[in-house]
Amino acid sequence: MSRIEAASDAVLTEAGAHLRAGRLVAFPTETVYGLGADATNDDAVASIFEAKGRPRFNPLIVHVSDLAAAVALVKFDDRARKLASTFWPGPLTLVLPRREDCGLSLLVSAGLDSVAVRVPAHPVAQGLLRAVARPVAAPSANRSGAISPTEAEHVAESLGERVSLVVDGGACTVGLESTVVDLTGPQPAILRPGAVTREEVAAVLGCAVIEGGGDPAAPKSPGQLLSHYAPDRPVRLGATDKQPGEALLGFGGTAGADLDLSPDGSLREAAAHLFAYLRRLDRAPFTGIAVAPVPDDGLGRAINDRLQRAAAPR
Ligand code: TXA
Ligand code: MG
Repeated sequence: MSRIEAASDAVLTEAGAHLRAGRLVAFPTETVYGLGADATNDDAVASIFEAKGRPRFNPLIVHVSDLAAAVALVKFDDRARKLASTFWPGPLTLVLPRREDCGLSLLVSAGLDSVAVRVPAHPVAQGLLRAVARPVAAPSANRSGAISPTEAEHVAESLGERVSLVVDGGACTVGLESTVVDLTGPQPAILRPGAVTREEVAAVLGCAVIEGGGDPAAPKSPGQLLSHYAPDRPVRLGATDKQPGEALLGFGGTAGADLDLSPDGSLREAAAHLFAYLRRLDRAPFTGIAVAPVPDDGLGRAINDRLQRAAAPR
């Protein structure tokens, strides 16, 4: 198993040294745990793809500690500045044109001429990024296609020996991956819904924001393949009761639920619980997971996006 260490100054210094030496370190962000590597080191970035079993065409998000560090990697326009000053640090990723002199490994962007960048708010992620003093590529710290980790133990369960050190910063408060906004075209597009909603992005930019990259068969964001975030057991959505063998994942006080995402009907609480609860129901004696309806507005859109991918044909 991988070594899990509670975050402390000494552990962050050690984790920073591992990253600078080209090794992988898992660390908490406010969204999910990330599997980090030095984004300027080809071998280190390649080992992320290996550890996750991730297709090489799926680019990674680069994490930096502040706006100044992001500006050194990608070209910001007015729209990007507005979004960064409103939502950073926080659960928002911006896809922007890559600077030629950025120093990032070409593997990070999987052959695209754009780079996805984000400034996480979690104090442990911030501490680590400052200790490394280099951009850190970090996808969610799980095997490709599986459920994203929101606790240090989930990382160890999913990646085992593939990651030597997991920095433990407790359970992630947001619980869903960051909102990904593509600003490489004339019209801003949400490539992946998250805690920062399309409405919030549109309000800051004062213009229409489209959702998705258009054709779902040829996703603009290559990671947005239909089957993703998938438990081992089949997932059935819109459930009001359970079939024999199924577990029932409720929302807002669903009668007979084995677990309820938020008995009070809070979308924030539901998002924070979603991945951990799917994991808890993805075991014997259950043979399938039935999920009660979740309202499809605001943060509910991001929750339903993950649920639809969990339920998609594999
Ligand atoms: O919350 C998060 O974003 C977490 C934490 C660890 O920061 N990270 C995360 O990374 O979810 P990952 O690799 O699992 O998801 C990255 C998403 C994928 O859907 C990928 O296709 C997209 O961002 N992406 C990355 N670079 C891109 C680019 N240049 N153009 C379009 N999409 C990109
Ligand atoms: Mg992921």
